[in-house]
Parts: sequence; structure tokens; C-alpha cells
Amino acid sequence: MQTKRIYIDPVNPEQEFLKEGAKLLQAGELVAFPTETVYGLGANALDPSACSKIFAAKGRPQDNPLIVHVCNRAMAELLVEEWTPEAELCVQHFWPGPLTLVLPKRPTVPDIVTGGLDNVAIRMPSHPVALRLIEETGFPIAAPSANLSGKPSPTMGSHVWYDLKGKIPLILDGGACPVGLESTVLDVFGRVPTILRAGGISKEQLEKVLGEVRVDNPSKDQAPKAPGMKYRHYAPRGEMILVIGFRKRVVQRMADEIQKGHARLKRVGVLCTLESAPFLHNWFPELLFVLGSKDRPAEVASNLFEGLRLCDERGVDLILAEGIEEGGLGTAVMNRMKNAAGQHIQYV
Ligand code: TXA
Ligand code: MG
Repeated sequence: MQTKRIYIDPVNPEQEFLKEGAKLLQAGELVAFPTETVYGLGANALDPSACSKIFAAKGRPQDNPLIVHVCNRAMAELLVEEWTPEAELCVQHFWPGPLTLVLPKRPTVPDIVTGGLDNVAIRMPSHPVALRLIEETGFPIAAPSANLSGKPSPTMGSHVWYDLKGKIPLILDGGACPVGLESTVLDVFGRVPTILRAGGISKEQLEKVLGEVRVDNPSKDQAPKAPGMKYRHYAPRGEMILVIGFRKRVVQRMADEIQKGHARLKRVGVLCTLESAPFLHNWFPELLFVLGSKDRPAEVASNLFEGLRLCDERGVDLILAEGIEEGGLGTAVMNRMKNAAGQHIQYV
């Protein structure tokens, strides 16, 4: 299949390009588009055969349900059987934006979208291209992140191109996604709202509006409530070590690991903060990628997936990543870093 890539204005998307995307979606085809979090791979959420193409293109396990994207409250009504006061508060405070709500589904939502679950995950994105594409299409759009299953989520059109060219008919390329991490997935139906996946809206932000908020923390023999959390995501090709602790000791440990890596003839990639970069630079890693300032987790969040993908592109076979402080967006960043490192973590 030929993949067309259209460069679209992320602020004032051109009507003709939105129409082209909408036409394909209406015909049951897939379209990749930017959201404020990461790129989505969209299909008509009400058409099971269109949605099945998503699983084929990504190589995604069938039991991993899809987030349904809406452009207004009326569209959300079509999908949700029962709202809760907590869900209403979330809609008021965080929509449109990087928060996905899990609520009981209506029968109109096909089983393939929810992986057979009784709940549906829905979100109203704030990115103008996403919002206006849904509007133009006229129905809700089911969309997982537009990467091959197991790869870091795409935060740039070029990432989607790299993963999915030849497999989908259209990529709307609106440049970099501002948040750069996926949405927070929140169960708002249980007694206490529970975060199933950390993301663009932090626990602290949610607590201010909702009061008590829990985090789904399944033990080893329990299944996570967001089925996708059981899979290893964000896996770069190379081995990855995450170093966490007091910054001076982190820099020292990373310098040691660069030398050890070089002694084993490894191509070493370093993902670090702005503050640590000058010290690590002196050890000549094959790639040094600055994630952002340790004091600006939003910057680190928006650059992380690009850094991981760059390591793959440059043929890095040992990645050394510097952890940042947990809390706020830092928690979501560290969740992704730990996942990418496959729990290969050194505390110093
Ligand atoms: O920011 C985002 O959330 C992006 C953009 C495109 O919106 N989408 C995204 O989708 O990250 P995906 O498919 O890569 O991740 C969706 C996560 C998975 O962990 C999935 O298991 C969970 O949400 N999920 C989806 N539907 C669910 C449901 N009904 N109940 C529980 N978890 C659900
Ligand atoms: Mg994903």
C-alpha cells in the first residue's frame, strides 16, 4: 500500500486536508493524526472491520482495547451507558486534554474496541487537527498510539512514517506533539477514582479536583486493569540501563558505564538532563541526547520518546538514561523510562 504523508498546519489545519482524512475514515480506512499527547492511528470506532485494521497494522494483541476519541460531549453520550459525578468533574476540568476516562459502555461500542470489556475508554483531545478531524468525520474515532506494537509512541510525523509506511493510506503530519507522553487513563466508575496508566495529567492535578485518587498497582500474579499495561512498551533495540539517585552519583555511575560499554565495544547512547550533559559529554558517548532540564519535567516528557527512537536510529546498543524526580509529570516520565529499561535499574 502507498502511504501518503500530508504536512498539515497544527494550529489552523487546512480544511481540504481534514476532508481527505475524513473521507478515508468514512470509507473504513486508517488515518494517522497528531494529538497533543502522541500520534494516534484512527479508525471509525463504530465499525468493527475498520477497527480490526488497526490491530493488523500495529501487530497489536487483540485483548488490548482502544481509546475512543470524541470532539464534544454529545458524541461521548453515544458511547457511555452511565456517568458518575467524578467523570463530570473530570470533563469540566480536563477536557479537551490528555485525560482518558473509563466508564461503562453502551452496546453501540463494538467488542473489538473494548477487547470484550464492559467499559470503554474515551477522551476528547485538545489538538486542533484531532478535534477538527473528528468533527469533519462525524463519528468517534478509535485510536491507539500510531507506533508498531512494542515501540515507543510516536511524537513526530516522521516516527509514524518510520513505523507504518506501506501499511496505512494516510499520515496527517502536524509536526511534534506538545505533551509527548500518552494520556492518563483514569477509571472513574469505581468507588475511588483510580489511575490505570500515568500520563499527561498528574495524580496531583486530579487530586485537587477529585479528592482521593488511587493508582492501580497490581501484584505480579494480578492482571492490570488497563490490559495494555501488562505488555513491555517503549522497548528500544539496545540494552538500556536507568540510573536513579543523587545527581552527582548518577553522573559518576553513568560515566563508569560509558567506559565499561566502550571496553565491550558497545555503541553507547546517553539520555540525560541539561544539567548533567556537560559532565557526560567528556566521556564521548556515540550519542548524547539532552532530555531537558531536571527542573522542567514537561520538557523531559516531550523529548523522551524522540530520544529513545534516536538511539535505535543511530545503532546504539547500550543506552544509559538518567532518571528524574517522581511527582507531577515526573511520575509518568519515570513510568515510561522504567518500562523501556525493562526494569534494568541502578539506584545510586
Ligand atoms: O494519549 C493517548 O492516550 C494516545 C492518543 C492517541 O490518544 N493513545 C494511546 O492509546 O496511548 P494506546 O492504545 O497506545 O493505549 C491505551 C491504553 C492501553 O493501556 C489500554 O489497555 C488502555 O488504555 N485501555 C483502553 N481501553 C480500556 C478500557 N476499556 N479499560 C481499561 N483500559 C483501557
Ligand atoms: Mg500505545
